[in-house]
Amino acid sequence: MSQWQPDSWRAKPILQQPVYQDAAHLQQVEQKLKGYPPLVFAAETRALYRQLGDVAQGKGFLLQGGDCAESFSEFNAPKIRDTLKVILQMAIVLTFAGRCPVTKVARMAGQYAKPRSGDMETIDGVSLPSYRGDIINSFEFTEAARQPDPQRMLEAYHQAAATLNLLRAFAQGGLADLHEVNRWNMAFVENNPLKSRYQDIAKRIQESLEFMSVMGINSTNTPTLHETTLFTSHEALLLNYEQALTRVDTLTGNWYNCSAHMLWIGERTRQLDHAHIEFFRGIHNPIGVKVGPSMQEDELIRLIDALNPQNSPGRLTLITRMGADVLESNLPRLLRKVKQEGRSVVWSSDPMHGNTIKATSGYKTRNFDAILREIQQFFAAHDAEGTHAGGIHLEMTGQHVTECTGGAYQISDEDLAQAYKTQCDPRLNADQVLEMAFLVADHLRVA
Ligand code: PEP
Ligand code: CO
Repeated sequence: MSQWQPDSWRAKPILQQPVYQDAAHLQQVEQKLKGYPPLVFAAETRALYRQLGDVAQGKGFLLQGGDCAESFSEFNAPKIRDTLKVILQMAIVLTFAGRCPVTKVARMAGQYAKPRSGDMETIDGVSLPSYRGDIINSFEFTEAARQPDPQRMLEAYHQAAATLNLLRAFAQGGLADLHEVNRWNMAFVENNPLKSRYQDIAKRIQESLEFMSVMGINSTNTPTLHETTLFTSHEALLLNYEQALTRVDTLTGNWYNCSAHMLWIGERTRQLDHAHIEFFRGIHNPIGVKVGPSMQEDELIRLIDALNPQNSPGRLTLITRMGADVLESNLPRLLRKVKQEGRSVVWSSDPMHGNTIKATSGYKTRNFDAILREIQQFFAAHDAEGTHAGGIHLEMTGQHVTECTGGAYQISDEDLAQAYKTQCDPRLNADQVLEMAFLVADHLRVA
């Protein structure tokens, strides 16, 4: 295989990229980004790698979630805080009720680039370039807004930096203190039908904390009670941006993509001889690849070997996104093959992307029951094959949106208009995530 360089992807075919009109401007932005400080530190990235190594060996669970696409306009502290709270809340349910260590990875602080099914979007007879995420162009449906603008990469960098700064502050500064978590969770689940179940967990955590306190273990002398570790991730789709933030780690001499701890390759850009595989093979971060129902067994082994030739546990997470109706006919054959060939991966379930439908009201939505069904089948398939169901990958938000139908509140097609705020795919709201958490915890417990 030819020598890897941060820019060796440029010689390969590439899909899902914008066409920038002003090449000089693009180059100037890339140069500027290359001089900017890294957003994450390679040693943090290695800590995530080790945790995922444990997950790959059946000793933990990966919880990954956040917006489908972060936006420049909806960028504020409450939104970041509320999404973080839901992630922490779900992690607590999984840790406590599922009796399983949980690695938390946010789809935040960099999730700005989107693959699209069509290059053009047509509304009322007018065709314009598709929206590709705020790092590339603007959601607004005008000719000017849909022009890709390299300047947006700098804005994405600064917004990612500010988001990360707040996430770190919340994770380390007391918001994630187990005593605190117990308190804010109460208001959070106020109207939720699962309130009593959640309160029961909160009460048991409270009792454990009181017991530990009597034994002299408290937030002051025990950092793990006071703070949490949250990692960041996004789909590394726009390689101009990703390359500019890829740096040599001075401690190890290895290349790391320092735009996030974990990066993944989407379902539409994982062709073996294409640019994304080339770029990813050279970075030392833990990485993910989306795996849809069309994936063939041999193709998957070739993909694994291209990205993880050392077969190192924790390096590669396969994020399966099958669709509830076809999972049974596609996931088991892949689990069997990977096990047979002795490859070490984390198997994570994205129950969102294979279950997207158009509601009669015209909204793009997902039905909660289909999402649950995909997760249930994911666990069942792993049980049957003797492999570890290692994680879950969700599009979710802490806001009370109405984007996915169903759930305990029975959001209907007609309800979708009430609070449909996503710029891209429909997300689970806080209540739906909590419901999901209990279901997954029950599976973890028996696994
Ligand atoms: C996504 O995660 O938002 C996404 C586009 O997923 P996929 O590549 O699986 O379609
Ligand atoms: Co999405």
